[in-house]
Amino acid sequence: MVGIDQVLEKLSTVIDPDLKKDIVSMGMIKDLELNDGNLKFTLELTTPACPFNVEIEDDVRKVIGELNDVKKFDLNVTAKVMEGRSLDEDTAMKTVKNIIGVASGKGGVGKSTVSLNLALALSQTGAKVGLLDADIYGPSIPLMLGMKDGYMEVEDNKLQPADSNGLQVVSFGFFAEQAHQAAIYRGPIISGILKQFLVDTNWSNLDYLIVDLPPGTGDIPLTLAQTIPITGILVVTTPQDVASNVAVKAIGMFEKLNVPIIGVVENMSHFICPNCNDKHYIFGDGGAKKISEQFKIPFLGEIPLNSGIMSGSDLGKPIMISNPDSPSAIAFRKAAKNIAGQCSILASRLQEEMASENNNEESAPEASTN
Ligand SMILES: Nc1ncnc2c1ncn2[C@@H]1O[C@H](COP(=O)(O)OP(=O)(O)O)[C@@H](O)[C@H]1O
Ligand SMILES: [Mg+2]
Repeated sequence: MVGIDQVLEKLSTVIDPDLKKDIVSMGMIKDLELNDGNLKFTLELTTPACPFNVEIEDDVRKVIGELNDVKKFDLNVTAKVMEGRSLDEDTAMKTVKNIIGVASGKGGVGKSTVSLNLALALSQTGAKVGLLDADIYGPSIPLMLGMKDGYMEVEDNKLQPADSNGLQVVSFGFFAEQAHQAAIYRGPIISGILKQFLVDTNWSNLDYLIVDLPPGTGDIPLTLAQTIPITGILVVTTPQDVASNVAVKAIGMFEKLNVPIIGVVENMSHFICPNCNDKHYIFGDGGAKKISEQFKIPFLGEIPLNSGIMSGSDLGKPIMISNPDSPSAIAFRKAAKNIAGQCSILASRLQEEMASENNNEESAPEASTN
């Protein structure tokens, strides 16, 4: 009769392609029961947006199928997002597992569009997602969601995020009067506002918080990088950016601050001909890929240029909601999965680092007595 050891041995031949580790040692097998050849367990993925969820599940079914004597097999697939930031005792924002800053070299590359649609794409997989519009000088998220001011309330000195399409949203644009004055605020005030938005908001158990940053390397990106531990930065470029080198500067700043770069997404990358469905790289091909090679950072996707993205934004109807089957929405979904996969990789690295630090601490006194 087949035993639990045999089942686990088989399952440990299934490797998570992102994490390059087997699913048993990653702790992805839960609640395993084996009675008289009836096998049952839960496969717990590292994110509901796992880019390899189907592949891993197929592999699991295949290896279990190779075991003789398994009469019946019940597989339950769930996901629990890994913590991509160290959440030790003193860390602020303990209810947020991953913080992803979305940055670019210059304005108008579609950072807000990408932030919003990626947040929606992640949320549509079942993850709990927040969106912080940190472009205090030019908040655009409320308009893109069709929301006006007055959406945010304060309870017990904490901001309550607004709810839109299942996202927890915070934006300076919700404070219309102050937002009009934002252009005259100086560095320390702006940094203070961002810190409040991050730390003094009642984020309720988020898997991912997407932070839409203003362009460039000013006070706000710097404050985000220095105030709290974050999972990493997603860089948005357009094909033209590569020539002007602006994206490179932004990447350089975050690297100097030791903030991980999750990867790069190219927006307005190509035009899909509505008649023949061919991709036309009208601004040139391979820009973001070059950046990804130069900095050795992952290339996470390309979003087509589509007039529906622009008109939908202006009407408060993001493409992930208004046209979820369009090529643009499919491209956002693919990029979101890649980003979630990279966050799991960073989270797993972080866990390893923390484990090795703990080991060093434990062995340190011993070393000193020798
Ligand atoms: N892939 C795209 N296709 C068509 N228009 C886009 C696309 N991405 C962004 N836009 C439009 O480009 C403009 C700038 O985008 P926005 O997200 O506000 O950029 P940023 O936040 O970087 O300044 C907006 O009008 C937006 O609707
Ligand atoms: Mg913007």
